[in-house]
Amino acid sequence: MQVLLTHNTDWLGKYRGSGPVVLKPKTTQEVSSILKYCNDNSIAVVPQGGNTGLVGGGVPVRDEIVLSTSLMQTIESFDPVSGILTCQAGCILESLDGYLADRGFCMPLDLGAKGSCQIGGNIATNAGGIRFVRYGSLHGTVLGLEVVLPDGTVVDTISPCRKDNTGYDIKQLFIGSEGTLGVVTRASLLTSSRASAVNVALLGCESYESVVELLAQARGMLGEVVSAVEFLDDSCMDVIQTNLPGGTNPLSANYPFYFLVETSGSNNDHDTEKLNKYLESVIESGVCVDGTVAMDTTQQKALWAIREEISGALLGDGYVYKYDISLPVSKMYDIVEDMRKRCEGLTVRVCGYGHIGDGNLHLNITSKEYNPELLAKIEPYVYEYTAGENGSVSAEHGLGYMKSKCIHYSKSPAAVTLMHQIKSLFDPKGILNPYKLLPPNSANK
Ligand code: FAD
Ligand code: MLT
Ligand code: ZN
Repeated sequence: MQVLLTHNTDWLGKYRGSGPVVLKPKTTQEVSSILKYCNDNSIAVVPQGGNTGLVGGGVPVRDEIVLSTSLMQTIESFDPVSGILTCQAGCILESLDGYLADRGFCMPLDLGAKGSCQIGGNIATNAGGIRFVRYGSLHGTVLGLEVVLPDGTVVDTISPCRKDNTGYDIKQLFIGSEGTLGVVTRASLLTSSRASAVNVALLGCESYESVVELLAQARGMLGEVVSAVEFLDDSCMDVIQTNLPGGTNPLSANYPFYFLVETSGSNNDHDTEKLNKYLESVIESGVCVDGTVAMDTTQQKALWAIREEISGALLGDGYVYKYDISLPVSKMYDIVEDMRKRCEGLTVRVCGYGHIGDGNLHLNITSKEYNPELLAKIEPYVYEYTAGENGSVSAEHGLGYMKSKCIHYSKSPAAVTLMHQIKSLFDPKGILNPYKLLPPNSANK
């Protein structure tokens, strides 16, 4: 029963379904047989990878069965000349990166959940993460997919080649489709050479304007060697120090904001010289008031842990209201300050962190326990605000169950109608991941 409960409950502990069965196929053919049976018998199915999703997309809402790809972990091939990797959907992201590290390559994707998320889940959510600023989206690095449609049909677009302009690029529809159009069973991806020189620095600053200036100067002075640029506010540093055993701030004092910058290149002298010039410049101009540069990989991991462990640490406050929005970078933090005022007296904390290089804010609000009065202060305000700025109500986590009724804040009625038509074409009986991504309509109940 514990196993069933685990597969029925999402990472945030916010959504819990009552799916009676978890199926763990090992092969594409088994996935195909399962889906054909379910389609013929009108049984709803939720595809599930590592179950690290943050919008309730990978767990049942009612009594859907769970199709877990956790036993599909074969790495099929790697070509060290082209850098193309082909593997099954259940491969854990960190395992793939470890496999590539031994061969001098790396995955073009990295995120805090790397130890348990699976490449199929990453593709299904079009996960962004901390390397997006360097390698771009999975829409560019996924070269081919094998997908099983709800009726059991296997669609194979796996390719050993980088370029292919033969007709519609079908695989793109599945990237970010959150398990609503088909089950990803295999993928081929373009990987990158692993950098031999990596530097990580954590800087403290007094204002959000300084964070924006640090970003602009990093782009200008570090240019092509920048591999990650992230930010967090003082409340994030506090949650690390308060809720994580041994969580510490490596700087000499606490500051209103922190900026984490990583460089990756092939010549350490060149990169270090660039980073030092950047640091001298931002310290001399007062944009940065304190900072530390990791001396070795252990220290680099420790600096990264501060950023990557915020999500887990927030759970220690109680209940987390999590928002993942795209906004113009210069104004990105306004909503955090706004929310602090709106929700005063009802929260443990309101904090902001995220992928500043991509204009992606993670606005998180916590309370001791779920409070509908607080939720009513946050929603729909946060979505209306974001739409008013022409932003996106889901920058990288997807819509899942949480935001299935929110798509209209970021997409036009014509686009949503077309999405319903695509859903009906791929899944006429609506068996695959129902209640997710799209609001219900007559064709998708
Ligand atoms: P799951 O959670 O199992 O599923 C997610 C969705 O994909 C569901 O809708 C599911 O139905 C579907 N799905 C899963 N596998 C398949 C498949 N084979 N075929 C079709 N559909 C499938 N996300 C980011 O974008 N950037 C981040 O930086 C980031 N950091 C995170 C850090 C932490 C600590 C945590 C907990 C989560 C983070 N996430 C991040 C969210 C999450 O990890 C990603 O969305 C991840 O890509 C989900 O992968 P998964 O294997 O866990 O998928
Ligand atoms: C992150 O960037 O840390 C993730 O997207 C997870 C989160 O938003 O909590
Ligand atoms: Zn993120």
